[in-house]
Amino acid sequence: TELASFARGLPKAELHLHLEGTLEPEMMFTLAQRNGLPLPYSDVAEVKAAYDFTDLTSFLAVYYPAMSVLQTADDFHDLAWAYLLRAKEQGVVHAELFFDPQAHTGRGVPFATVVGGYRRAIVRAQAELGISAELILCFLRDLSAEHAMSTLLEALPYRHWIVGVGLDSDERDNPPTKFAAVFERARAEGFLVTMHCDIDQPGSIDHIRQALEFGVDRIDHGTNIVEDPELVATVLERGIGLTCCPVSNSFVTEQMKSDEIVSLLRSGVRVTINSDDPAYFGGYVADNYVALAEQAGLSASDLAELARNSFHASWLTPARRSAYL
Ligand code: HPA
Ligand code: ZN
Repeated sequence: TELASFARGLPKAELHLHLEGTLEPEMMFTLAQRNGLPLPYSDVAEVKAAYDFTDLTSFLAVYYPAMSVLQTADDFHDLAWAYLLRAKEQGVVHAELFFDPQAHTGRGVPFATVVGGYRRAIVRAQAELGISAELILCFLRDLSAEHAMSTLLEALPYRHWIVGVGLDSDERDNPPTKFAAVFERARAEGFLVTMHCDIDQPGSIDHIRQALEFGVDRIDHGTNIVEDPELVATVLERGIGLTCCPVSNSFVTEQMKSDEIVSLLRSGVRVTINSDDPAYFGGYVADNYVALAEQAGLSASDLAELARNSFHASWLTPARRSAYL
């Protein structure tokens, strides 16, 4: 459609994208074969049939085992490069990319292998695609705060390759306060901070409040904030961006949450649209713009506003940001 080509053509930043969530079934098979690893699936159709998620937990149960095919620096490079090629087609000019080192170091893959492979793809994307990209290290919130702290310390030698830190995985009973010391240390080391406050999780509003009390620079998802006018006033005042992911929402909660997203947008909150885990949810970033537009009846100028928000909410330097605005 016309709106779809407009959405693709809009220069945009992607701010909520898990590199491990870009592992397409075809690549899963390629890497399994290259590394001589068995897969619990016999073909691509069987993999896709397993992508029948009803909530965050059932998604994560498929997601983490799948990434064990990632073993070498070349594997991490190839994964990120494939994403960046697709991102180019989706109009992405800047990307801030989550990665989950603990999901790899926990299986014996060195931190240096993970970050080195990803970094090689990022340098190549700048040179060959004209896309700038940064890495955001996410702590797995269902593991201990001590494990997160030791991962942060492991990351310090690579600080110049990592713009910030985040918090992902299973949110239930794993509030931001659990990681207070880790995020304080990260901030003292110069990292920017964002945290997932997933859709409709138990304790959602409390988690958003804790994240804001800590002083996060951004919130991932965070759509439940719509329930609390005081918290909405806080993000408005501070210009905090929310990285919403409508197609992901529709898997995890059976709704895109378009009413909530649009209501926040109309209130002037820095709402952005992103793809989260596109290989699992079946939509890259421009597809998310279109899905939301179709569901909520948004216009081309609404989509342009969302794209502008993506630069405002990005962690680009002011000089580089203003080049896109
Ligand atoms: N929420 C929590 N953990 C995740 C997500 C998410 O949206 N995507 C990948 N890991
Ligand atoms: Zn996410």
